[in-house]
Amino acid sequence: MDILSEIKKEHENFRKIADEISKTTSRAEKTREKKFKKLKDDVKAHHESEEYVLFPDLKNHTESKEITLEGIEEHKVIHYLLDEIDKIKTTDETFSAKFSVFKEILEHHMDEEEKDLFEKARKVLSKDKLEEMKDSFESKKTIEK
Ligand SMILES: [Fe+2]
Ligand SMILES: [Fe+2]
Repeated sequence: MDILSEIKKEHENFRKIADEISKTTSRAEKTREKKFKKLKDDVKAHHESEEYVLFPDLKNHTESKEITLEGIEEHKVIHYLLDEIDKIKTTDETFSAKFSVFKEILEHHMDEEEKDLFEKARKVLSKDKLEEMKDSFESKKTIEK
C-alpha cells in the first residue's frame, strides 16, 4: 500500500461522514456537532500531512507543480469554510446551506486529487517513494494526535 491508497481511504471516510452530516436535521444538534468537529479536525490533519509529506516533491516537478499549487489553494478555501461553519450553532438556519457548499467543494477537491493529482504523482514519483511516503503520512498524524 502506498500514500495514494492511504489518502483515498481517508477521502472515502470524509465522504461518508459528510453524507451523514448532510442527512441530519437541526433537531439532531449533538450528533451534528460531534460529527462536524471530527470531520473538521480530520480534514485539517489530512491536508497538513498532504502538504508536509507529498506536496513538496510534487511541487519540484514541472508536470505536477500547477495541480499541487491549486490543491494548496483549495485547502485554504476548505479551511475557511470549516471555520465559518464552526462559528455558527448547528441549529442555525444557515447550517445546512453552509455545509452543503462546503461539501461540494470538498468533494470536488478530493475527486480532482484522486484523478489528476494521483495520475501526475504516479508519473513523477517512483513506486518505492510512494510506499515510503505512506509511513511518513501516517506517523505525522500519530505525532500530532
Ligand atoms: Fe488535499
Ligand atoms: Fe486529500
